[in-house]
Order: sequence, then structure tokens, then C-alpha cells
Amino acid sequence: MNDSIKIVEVGARDGLQNEKSVIQFNQRLEFLNLLVRSGFKAIEVGSCVSPRWVPQMDRSADLYAALEKPEQVDFSLLVPNMQGFEAAIQVGCKEIAIFTAASESFAQKNINCSIQQSIQRFEPIFEMAKHHEIKVRGYVSCVVDCPYEGAIAPQKVASIAKQLFDSGCYEISLGETIGTASPIRVRKLLQHCLDVLPAGRVAGHFHDTYGMALANISESLNWGLRIFDSSIAGLGGCPYAKGASGNVSTEDVVYLLEQSGFKTGIDISEMLKASNYITSVLQRDNKSHFVKAYTAKMLS
Ligand code: HMG
Ligand code: MG
Repeated sequence: MNDSIKIVEVGARDGLQNEKSVIQFNQRLEFLNLLVRSGFKAIEVGSCVSPRWVPQMDRSADLYAALEKPEQVDFSLLVPNMQGFEAAIQVGCKEIAIFTAASESFAQKNINCSIQQSIQRFEPIFEMAKHHEIKVRGYVSCVVDCPYEGAIAPQKVASIAKQLFDSGCYEISLGETIGTASPIRVRKLLQHCLDVLPAGRVAGHFHDTYGMALANISESLNWGLRIFDSSIAGLGGCPYAKGASGNVSTEDVVYLLEQSGFKTGIDISEMLKASNYITSVLQRDNKSHFVKAYTAKMLS
């Protein structure tokens, strides 16, 4: 069994993009520094999107520039178009993530274009990324349900994911954007996606609206997935997916994986510092069951 897991910590991007208030630059920076100290090997720093669309992510490229970046950590910025890509390369970013959807309506609402238009937008980005030796990760949103269209055919997801992979994405993250999936639907999704993509290049990105994310991760593990995106404290959501709650909490994912014999490389006590820091900045309860139980045990 391949017992090593890559966790992509998306709390500083997916986590904070949906906050009502804009988090101060220095607080975002401190949060990221605490994540680095926790041992994450892959951290999404923020997104270079339009600040009119997502004001919470303003100055993400500056944040990338200001961050201390140990070599062993892959830091990435989410970009929707060439303008975002240029902002990322200007600060020396070595990995970007592009994003599209398996639902036309969601693509329109989220990035103001069709799925195929978004893929065309990415073509020159792939070329430049290759030239600058920048790694490109690809997200496909709404891989199970769309907030506007309902159920999405797994065949459609597989076809879009394959297009991104063939165009140059080294990894495809399957975005279960609204957290309605259950394991049986994840199984159907992976049956199709893993027909066309190697399991080692596919990530599970589960939101936890219906509390199914850990079950969905377990199902994905059975299918050979070893990369999972998650958010400290279960923060997050997409501003263009109403009703969807945060990502699965990283703390619970780490507990599940370590208890199942996998190695995450995360230092639990350092992770809890990051977790406590961001929940106190946001004045928010931590959604993680692990954190609630662990804290109660420590206090007893
Ligand atoms: P648009 O309005 O069609 O853009 O938005 P445009 O090209 O027509 O330009 C309009 C204005 O935006 C111009 O400014 C541009 O300069 C500016 P103006 O001349 O009017 O002052 N602009 C930008 N500014 C900064 N950075 C840029 C940029 N591009 C244009 N990169 C656009 C199109 C894609 C920009 C917009 O729709 C957008 O920013 N969308 C992002 C939405 C978003 O961030 N959603 C959340 C992330 S995705 C997600 O959460 C899902 C995921 O987690 C997986 C899952 O859970 O499923 C990844
Ligand atoms: Mg997401």
C-alpha cells in the first residue's frame, strides 16, 4: 500500500475567500506561516482573481511574495486567466492552479465564460507555464452536483478532467463544490475519471455541507487516490455556490488518515496553533470534530 498522502491545504484560499469580512494582509500572512510550521507540503496561498469578484483574495500575489518559502513546500496561486497568471509569475510563483467546471451554469457564474472558453483561455497559460517551468494544477468544479443544474454526468467530468490533463495539468483536483456527494456517487465519478486518468494524479476536493466528506475520502482511498484538499477548521466555500459550506476540515482528515495507517507528515500541535489562530481571528468555532474532542480531553 502507498501509505504516504499529500494534503493540499487550501484554507488560505478556499477557506478565506468566502468570509464576509476581509481578513487583514498580516493576518493572512501569519496564518500561512503557521501552516508552513505545521508541516504541510502543499499550500494554496490565495488567488489572483478579480478583486471585484472576490475582494477577500485581493493582494494574493503580494502575499506570495511576502511569505517565507522553504524549498520543501509547494506554494501555489489560483488563477482564472492570463491576467492572473501574469500577476503570479511576477512574484516568482512556481505553481499555479487553473479552474473550470463540469457545469456550464457554474462556469458562467464563477468565471463569466463557458467551459470551452475557459479551456481556450488556459491554452496560452499552459504554453507560458511550460516556458517558465511552472507547474499547473487543474480544478474541475461541480463534479457531482451543481447548485444551478443539479446532478452532473460523471462522463462529462471525466472528459473535462482529461482535457485539462492532456493540455498540461500535472494533477487534477475533482471539486465537490457543494458537498452533496455520498460515497456511491463518488464511486461512479471515480469509475469514469480513473478510466482516463492515473489515480496518482487525481485529488479529492470535498466540501462538507452534508457531513459526507470523510466518507467520500474513504471511498476515494479505496480507489487509490492519495491526494486530498482540505481546509483548516473546515473553513471555506465558494462565493458563487450558495448554500455550500466549507471544505472538509484538515484536522479531521489528518486524524482519519493517521488512524488508517497513512502518513501525512503533519505536526498536530503546530497544526492546532494554526487552527486556533485563524478561528480566533475570525471569531469562529472550529468545525473539526477532532479539535473539539482533543481540546475537551486536554482540558479535562
Ligand atoms: P470578467 O468581468 O469577465 O473579466 O471576469 P474581464 O476580463 O472582462 O475584465 C473585467 C475587469 O476585471 C477588468 O478591470 C480586468 O482588469 C479585471 P477593469 O478594467 O474593469 O478595471 N480582471 C482582473 N483583475 C485582477 N485579476 C484578474 C483579472 N481578470 C480580469 N485575474 C474573471 C472574469 C475570471 C476575472 C472573474 O469572473 C473572476 O475573477 N472570477 C473568480 C471567481 C472566484 O474566484 N471563485 C472562487 C474560486 S473557484 C472555487 O472556489 C472552486 C474550487 O475551490 C473547487 C471547488 O470547490 O469546486 C477551486
Ligand atoms: Mg472549493
